[in-house]
Amino acid sequence: MEETPRKVGIVGYGNLGKYLVENMDDSFELSFVYNRDTSKIKGVDGEKVLQNLDDFTNYDVDLIVEVAHPEISKKYATRFLQHADYMPGSPTAFADKELESKVLDFVEKDESHAMYVPRGAMWYLDCILQLVANNKLKKMNVTMKKHPLSIHYYGPLEIPLAEITKETTIYSGSVRQVCSYAPNNVNTMAVAALASQLGMDNVTAQLVVDPQLESHIIEVELYGAGEGQDCYVEKAQRYNPAKKGAVTGSATYLSFLNSMKRAHGHKNGLHFC
Ligand SMILES: NC(=O)c1ccc[n+]([C@@H]2O[C@H](COP(=O)([O-])OP(=O)(O)OC[C@H]3O[C@@H](n4cnc5c(N)ncnc54)[C@H](O)[C@@H]3O)[C@@H](O)[C@H]2O)c1
Repeated sequence: MEETPRKVGIVGYGNLGKYLVENMDDSFELSFVYNRDTSKIKGVDGEKVLQNLDDFTNYDVDLIVEVAHPEISKKYATRFLQHADYMPGSPTAFADKELESKVLDFVEKDESHAMYVPRGAMWYLDCILQLVANNKLKKMNVTMKKHPLSIHYYGPLEIPLAEITKETTIYSGSVRQVCSYAPNNVNTMAVAALASQLGMDNVTAQLVVDPQLESHIIEVELYGAGEGQDCYVEKAQRYNPAKKGAVTGSATYLSFLNSMKRAHGHKNGLHFC
């Protein structure tokens, strides 16, 4: 028996949004697309282009996908969740403590819709989730290394990014804090921290820039109970080729599409896909 296509609303028509709209297969039907500047949306039926995001309630939609900006979750996450499942592509939004608890409370109590956080560049998600499920994860650190032109950084800096000539750690601290310093660059850290259940304040992060890099490098360190040689440790690294200045690595586009395919099957709660 053929399954009914899942109706999807896409919020944001930049690199990711355009890719998702153009690469949806028959298991999806486009319900609507929204972009701040609607003139950028090409090849989509006019009636599917939302001029005002508040009008999303007029559309029959099963899953709303945010690929615009963390601000969208701040304004719309619970409103979307009253109407459809929600997949926030900019999970750094949930570093805002008030929003995090409001939305997580909402999805736990809600009886009809779930929130699905896409793994994005966090290729190691399943290993994190497995340790969490076995109650074995006690500590986690995530390091991201990028070219300085690939980072929009609003935190304090000793040297301006454009003047950095060698590998330099520009941030070391909690994931929660770095999400506000580099909201567009550290979604991967936010995904890992949410999945870890350790809390965004307790997962540590390093942001490293290196003008020689032509890749986005992510390193994850997971620690179980015990000290020193008695401590269980997993360390993993991902090397993703990316042009200088690119914010999103090429493998991440396909990852989002695959996440969209996995974003179903729950009536409530927070899930990772
Ligand atoms: N989870 C991950 O691993 C991951 C990976 C890549 C990108 N992202 C996030 O996904 C989002 C989209 O990425 P992209 O590469 O397509 O970016 P992009 O800049 O190419 O596109 C973003 C689009 O959203 C619109 N937009 C920006 N701010 C907005 C706002 N406040 N309200 C409404 N519309 C707004 C822009 O006009 C643009 O059309 C970004 O927030 C980015 O940080 C997440």
